Amino acid sequence: MQVRPASVFILLGYCLVCALHAGAVELTLSVTESNTESIRTVVEDWESITGNRVRIIATDNSSTVTMDRIRTELRSGENRADLYMVDVAWTGLIQEHLADLRPYASGMEKMHLPAAIEAYTYRDRLVALPLFLDAGVMFFRMDLLAKHGVPIPFTWQGLTSAAEKVMRAEREAGNPNLWGYIFQGQPYEGLTCNALEWIFSRNGGTIMEHDGTVTINNPEAVEALAEAASWIGRISPEEVLTFAEEESIAAFQAGNAVFMRNWPFAWNRLQADDSPVKGKVGSMPVPRGSPAGRSPGTMGGWAIAVADASPHRAVAAELALYLTGPLGQKKFCIVDTHIPSIEALFKDQEVIARVPMAVLEIFMSTVSRPTAAAGNKYDHVSRIFFTGVHSVLSGAENPKRRSPTSKQRWSGSAGTAGNKSGKNAWHPEYGVATTPGGDSCTSDGKSFIAGGQT
Ligand code: GLC
Repeated sequence: MQVRPASVFILLGYCLVCALHAGAVELTLSVTESNTESIRTVVEDWESITGNRVRIIATDNSSTVTMDRIRTELRSGENRADLYMVDVAWTGLIQEHLADLRPYASGMEKMHLPAAIEAYTYRDRLVALPLFLDAGVMFFRMDLLAKHGVPIPFTWQGLTSAAEKVMRAEREAGNPNLWGYIFQGQPYEGLTCNALEWIFSRNGGTIMEHDGTVTINNPEAVEALAEAASWIGRISPEEVLTFAEEESIAAFQAGNAVFMRNWPFAWNRLQADDSPVKGKVGSMPVPRGSPAGRSPGTMGGWAIAVADASPHRAVAAELALYLTGPLGQKKFCIVDTHIPSIEALFKDQEVIARVPMAVLEIFMSTVSRPTAAAGNKYDHVSRIFFTGVHSVLSGAENPKRRSPTSKQRWSGSAGTAGNKSGKNAWHPEYGVATTPGGDSCTSDGKSFIAGGQT
């Protein structure tokens, strides 16, 4: 592994600290289900170095479900864990219950990309240490594109027609289960990430801008969502509306899709020895809205936080530093193709060999969710957004048949407490409101973003 001399000293320092603190403490670490095994391999190393024990408890795989559980637990003061694996999207919502890790890190945080540290910093408190970075990436079946003479597409339009062409030809050739494009369409945080890519790549903004102004109500966003709705039943199966990351991987791995949007860890599954699509998959950035447009993957990632109320804060912080340090991050990359946030690891030959350059390249251009702008209301914003997007995709929401909740959701600007202009400001009850007066709804699939007063 190539690490800078400074990092080696930091690591040595870390080992010394461990030696001084060695003792038989038992810690509980809460992690998402799909990461349990890879985390366990790193935890075992730490246990043998320090003599401490770690009990790993698994939460759900859905970021939204995991967050709900962790937040309820931390708020009630009845923590089940000393350490929590937390999504970058939610850390701000629970930061008051998390310990400041900066005093424990004593400079080790400088190994990480500054943006990764910034994402977990609240008013100078470092409330979690980055475990890995994520960004949306498009996987595709190289073999099928080559077989049907279809070039790799770089725009959403190109992807739609490439998917249609390959799907039609394969179905005619007796492959009835093949679909063109699968993604994460379940109403949860993953759908927010997918829809943000569709919208941002077409210059439709980021739902809410830095000053808190809600900008989702725009023609580019309408167009992006209308196009996405047109995929369902055409290039994407209805079931995609129930898919999260794992379901998408299972379908793609079974050979049932030409394109799949997912995160870098999917690469490990697709290339596993028992994967039916091993050696047949390529990766590329998510498509652009137009040939000259942007192709951003939504920025994601997870970190390790220590509960402020943990009776073993100092030892827990040591474990957090080990998991998120060079040895831990490298192992996560080798085992699960998770992308490190430690800069030196980007030059590590084993890391480079494990992750295709196309996956590393996606980090050159990413889009962030409006977590900073929304502050502690981000969960409201995201929930309203993904619920609305899901309704549009499933065809449940259209201007002629609008549900009362959708009307409430996106209307009403009275009593808002948002940006100075008063436009598109926060609604105390529903979290967010559109422009006062709202735009009128014009066609199916557009009501949730265009929907103001009806
Ligand atoms: C990935 C990302 C995370 C995101 C989640 C959505 O796990 O790392 O940031 O919120 O997917 O499903």
